[in-house]
Amino acid sequence: MRAVIEPFRIKVVEPIHRTTRPERERLLRQARYNVFRLRSEDVLIDLLTDSGTGAMSDQQWARMIQGDESYAGARSYYRFLEVVNALTGMPHIFPVHQGRAAEHILCTILGGPGKVIPSNTHFDTTRANIEYTGATALDLPIAEALSPETLHPFKGNMDVKRLEELIHRTGAERIPACFLTLTNNTLGGQPVSMSNVQEVKATLDPYGIPLIIDASRIAENAYFIKLREPEYADRSPWEIAREIFAIADGCYMSAKKDGLVNIGGFLAVRDASLARRIEQLLILWEGFPTYGGLAGRDLEAIAQGLQEAFQEDYLHYRIHTIAWFAEQLRQRGVPIIEPPGGHAVFVNAARFAPHIPAEHFPGQAIVCALYVHAGVRAVEVGSLMLGKRDSNGRHIAPPLELVRLAVPRRVYTQSHLEYVADALADLFAQRQHLRGLQLLSASPFLRHFTAELEPLEPSLLLSGDTVL
Ligand code: F0G
Repeated sequence: MRAVIEPFRIKVVEPIHRTTRPERERLLRQARYNVFRLRSEDVLIDLLTDSGTGAMSDQQWARMIQGDESYAGARSYYRFLEVVNALTGMPHIFPVHQGRAAEHILCTILGGPGKVIPSNTHFDTTRANIEYTGATALDLPIAEALSPETLHPFKGNMDVKRLEELIHRTGAERIPACFLTLTNNTLGGQPVSMSNVQEVKATLDPYGIPLIIDASRIAENAYFIKLREPEYADRSPWEIAREIFAIADGCYMSAKKDGLVNIGGFLAVRDASLARRIEQLLILWEGFPTYGGLAGRDLEAIAQGLQEAFQEDYLHYRIHTIAWFAEQLRQRGVPIIEPPGGHAVFVNAARFAPHIPAEHFPGQAIVCALYVHAGVRAVEVGSLMLGKRDSNGRHIAPPLELVRLAVPRRVYTQSHLEYVADALADLFAQRQHLRGLQLLSASPFLRHFTAELEPLEPSLLLSGDTVL
């Protein structure tokens, strides 16, 4: 049997709202051409993020009713602790309200002016939390990761040679930790191999630099290892993840991804003195260490969700869904990052709209046109999210201009994704009408969330006569 099916049936449904094209033109104009500023009710299919947008299972909802909301020592905390400890093997585990809270605490302790924190690629909130302390966030992906069509089974890998060079050049004392993001979200949701995790650790060990895993999508990454690293073919994704954590000195997770919950996360470390410092900041910013900014019911949902996220049937369906979606786009001629990753399909905006220069945000032009045309919300991962300015105010573009179509977990069906593929194919056929945008206002950190933009010139794909 070739068909891969959803390993669940649907018990509760939520209607989605249709809008007309003139309404969407108006709504996007009001949102200053930034889809983060839209109301979700005005979006038909929302592929903005896979973070916190998944559907919980009946088991998770059942466990939530059992949430113990005691301030200290809640039963729900101990359930959470048991599962996170079984998965990570870390002795010191702290709940946090989401991934960036873990980053905030960790980077406050590790960062500071003069420090350098390398990664395969930092996610934008990680980078911002590092830079906010005055430290430098450095991305060291393998060369293949920057070549959109180059096939490589583990495009999320870190370039170990460059890591070694960095340590020699910078001096280990200025590198308080090395991060590895599994999967590598920013460069396409690409997995990191077990052998790469081992090589990174072997490179760091002689210098005593700790390895911290960003485990937000660890289940998807573990499943790719099972599929693509032959010696792991017979191991379960849970066992593979355990092995990754066993190599690391610490980890954090936004459980809004592979924890299958709408809010939550954790931070975990081996070192007792680091744990004490984390605990102090946790109490200051998040809450008492047995709830860390979460309700007891959220801890219950994470404990259950983590176990469901590692079920092979689920991961098989999850990874297959993304691959199927990618194939739909490929068949329609839409240029994508190859091979597709674990949580999203990434459109190569630089090839889709080569006539728009990076400083006029080709990815954002596609995102805006996709919303106006079809009511679909995607997110730009390119010059708007990751671009910088040099001291002369000139735009420094990131290596890739992408549009991410992130697929929420257990939410949309095949026909929803087929609709999105058709919509992108329509735009691709009209791509010469895409026009760039300019920034009207932007904040110094994480500017894409709140930036205001306007089209540089009238665009048929954003307003006026319907060409599609
Ligand atoms: N690390 C990675 C790899 C992420 O993708 C994210 C969030 C975070 C950390 C921060 O976690 O949102 O819980 O604070 N990624 C979301 C996304 C926002 O859309 O990819 P958070």
